[in-house]
Amino acid sequence: MWEYSDKVKEHFTNPKNVGSIENADAIGEAGALSCGDKLKLYLKIDGNIITDAKFQTFGCGSAVAASSVLTVMLIGKTLDEARKITNRQIAQELDGLPPEKMHCSVMGREALEDALKKYYQEDWEDLEEEVEAGSQIICHCFGVSEKQIIDAILNNGAKTFDDISKITSAGLACGRCRENIKTIISRYIKQEEKQVLTPVQKIIKINSIIETVISPELQKDFGDIELINVEGNNVYVRLKGHCSQCANAKMTLKNFVEVKLKELVDDDIVVFEEK
Ligand code: FES
Repeated sequence: MWEYSDKVKEHFTNPKNVGSIENADAIGEAGALSCGDKLKLYLKIDGNIITDAKFQTFGCGSAVAASSVLTVMLIGKTLDEARKITNRQIAQELDGLPPEKMHCSVMGREALEDALKKYYQEDWEDLEEEVEAGSQIICHCFGVSEKQIIDAILNNGAKTFDDISKITSAGLACGRCRENIKTIISRYIKQEEKQVLTPVQKIIKINSIIETVISPELQKDFGDIELINVEGNNVYVRLKGHCSQCANAKMTLKNFVEVKLKELVDDDIVVFEEK
């Protein structure tokens, strides 16, 4: 079971600023219902100040808590201050989020960015150009920039995605940054030849990773998983317990199960859910 701070619990059980704002000056959206999380953020802006912020969200408790605390952070801020809020600050304001739930703070940051982009319209591009070259954020969950990843490769000897994660924490939550990190690594490191597994060795390894790495993690949240079939790089699994009813099941399969199997078995693995 994931550990939540008292602040996460407070914002989940008693969320602030729920609802919409009539005649909002800016509305931002992030997430998708098909992924299990969606957020709509409404802002009322007077001059340069955000005077009101409300949200509507569909998602888990962490998504509600992150959206709620974001609105509290925004009210009274100038637009420039709001533009600089990172997802890491949203998580810090909640006294932390479990790594697996950092994507909820990313969703808050993305909805804010969407709202401000629409508000600033063409001026947004000029504001973004102020961002220093190379400081583009690659891992939004942990606010890790391209520059930090390159530094880990060139100055700290990182050679693999795991090395980068250990040094910078990048990639330890939703995993959406994984491919971009690997692209950066491949620019600097000649990849070692991967061990070639026979089809039978691959099935054994996949089953072992599911039983020893993936299943214990899901069991912590009263879920589980079983391997149904393997055809080439297509892995068919069944989610069980809480995982089988969870609105975030697709995200768990893509961002946790598939990411782990790619990382530990084969980069080309694709995971499918069997009902
Ligand atoms: S963007 Fe979520 S772990 Fe990197």
